[in-house]
Amino acid sequence: MSKTKRTARGEAGAGGDGAGRLPLALIACVGRNRAIGLRGRLPWRSAEDLAHFRVVTMGHALVMGRVTFESLPGPLAGRKVIVLSRKAEYAARNGIVAHSLDEAIRVARATDAEPIVCGGATVYAEALPLVTRLYLTEIARDFEGDAFFPRINEADWRETDRRRVGELAFRTLERAG
Ligand SMILES: NC(=O)c1ccc[n+]([C@@H]2O[C@H](COP(=O)([O-])OP(=O)(O)OC[C@H]3O[C@@H](n4cnc5c(N)ncnc54)[C@H](OP(=O)(O)O)[C@@H]3O)[C@@H](O)[C@H]2O)c1
Repeated sequence: MSKTKRTARGEAGAGGDGAGRLPLALIACVGRNRAIGLRGRLPWRSAEDLAHFRVVTMGHALVMGRVTFESLPGPLAGRKVIVLSRKAEYAARNGIVAHSLDEAIRVARATDAEPIVCGGATVYAEALPLVTRLYLTEIARDFEGDAFFPRINEADWRETDRRRVGELAFRTLERAG
């Protein structure tokens, strides 16, 4: 049976996937042991990955947790940042505060058809079921960490791009099916 093409925004054929997910990307840099963070910071320093992050995220609306936001060295020029916090009084300089993932994504979609989830671990875990595209930088080394990327089932994803720079692999994956 052939699939019916639908054209309304957010439905199949208009950027949403077959399960009705609207476009939502996620970007993460992940060690071989899935470590992503240590004591509120990245476990590594990688100029190549920071440059990649800047290129991929430029012009987009970004959703991130409060801990990740507070670890940024400064404002992310050219990007709208939505910061998740459960604290009613939390105010973020250079960011818009949202109090749930749904609210954050709604605010992000007001200006961006494909917002990008930027971590950290708790936000990745909650957002992953909604995500349609992954930008994963994989570092072929284990790191000490206290924050980890959730396991993904590679069978659920189709790799559409891969670029290697030394021990880094920059991968793009689209949700399959
Ligand atoms: N390698 C990478 O690509 C990458 C990317 C991003 C971050 N990181 C690393 O990950 C670590 C931080 O991760 P983390 O998991 O500890 O913290 P996080 O996800 O950045 O922030 C957690 C905080 O976000 C808020 N939050 C999360 N989910 C929420 C929801 N559904 N509704 C409302 N607020 C919500 C809460 O803030 P309140 O406490 O204010 O309520 C929570 O304490 C750092 O080490 C960072 O460097 C790595």
